[in-house]
Amino acid sequence: MLVLGIESSCDETSAAVVENGKKLLSCKVISSLDIHRKFGGVIPEIASRMQLASISFIVEEALLKAGISLDKINLISVTDTPGLLGSLLVGQSFAKAISISKDIPVLGINHIHSHIYANFLEHKNISFPFVALVVSGGHTSLFYVPGFEEIKLLGSTSDDACGEAFDKVAKLLGLKYPGGPEIEKLAKSGSPKAIKFKCSQTKSPFDFSFSGIKTAVLYLLKNSQGKISKADIAASFQETVIDVLIEKSVLACKHYKAKTLLIGGGVASNSRFRDKLLLAQKINKLNIFIPPKNLCIDNAAMVAGLGYQLYKRNGGKNAY
Ligand code: KG4
Ligand code: ZN
Repeated sequence: MLVLGIESSCDETSAAVVENGKKLLSCKVISSLDIHRKFGGVIPEIASRMQLASISFIVEEALLKAGISLDKINLISVTDTPGLLGSLLVGQSFAKAISISKDIPVLGINHIHSHIYANFLEHKNISFPFVALVVSGGHTSLFYVPGFEEIKLLGSTSDDACGEAFDKVAKLLGLKYPGGPEIEKLAKSGSPKAIKFKCSQTKSPFDFSFSGIKTAVLYLLKNSQGKISKADIAASFQETVIDVLIEKSVLACKHYKAKTLLIGGGVASNSRFRDKLLLAQKINKLNIFIPPKNLCIDNAAMVAGLGYQLYKRNGGKNAY
């Protein structure tokens, strides 16, 4: 079964062709990030206008690279929530237009769930049930997953998303947007133990809170008047956040007696996070899966893959 995936939830426009939910035949991604960078964050109106201009081209490119004509596509899988409204509308309208003109079923997919699926495009032998952590610019969510149709939310952030905290702290440190990769770079020359930061307590052990640590960085910078190394701040902030992410994910695995943990989302491309997950895997005797870095960021391959799985199980009942 050949699935055309379409993703346009934030600043990326992406199209992919995936066979039987596993074999990636093509995945094209274009981003308007360079334009947003000078504003220090994504401007929704600019994102959707750029997506409108590029969606047709990017879908054609994906089909061309896969060597598949539109007539051979069996399903269109498109991100339908959550995301920027105008951006989502571009992808969905385009998907529905192809669906009607070529009589191909179309399925709407949850963007956060698709970040979990990115793992299945790369790794074999992932067994259910598992715990999944999605850490991106807009979301920080922990799930318990007994099957693709049952993705149960255990907890999420009560304020800033994890990637958002990286972006805001980077701004305080005078770094570029998006802040995650910049903090990772700066942290390499700092000590993760230099400053004792803490993430705020949450009511549920599976929820997250990152706005307190962001404020702690703000006051530290104000009060230290340039005397504390920015590299030490970046390294200590990064370490504290990563430790909390791992600690809560491992706790969820123990609580739900799951031996497998899946990670997804933009923050999962952080090298320090990936290294510490390997360590946590050994210590806690878990199987931890992380997608390759190119599948951690927003892409349509993960949308196509999850679409295949849900369509196969529901016989198309989810289609618009
Ligand atoms: O999943 P994603 O590409 O888009 C959303 O769905 O939000 O995630 C983007 C977020 C941004 O906040 C960015 O700063 C963060 O992921 N990010 C990182 C790294 N690379 C991207 N955070 C920490 N370390 C990184 N290396
Ligand atoms: Zn995302």
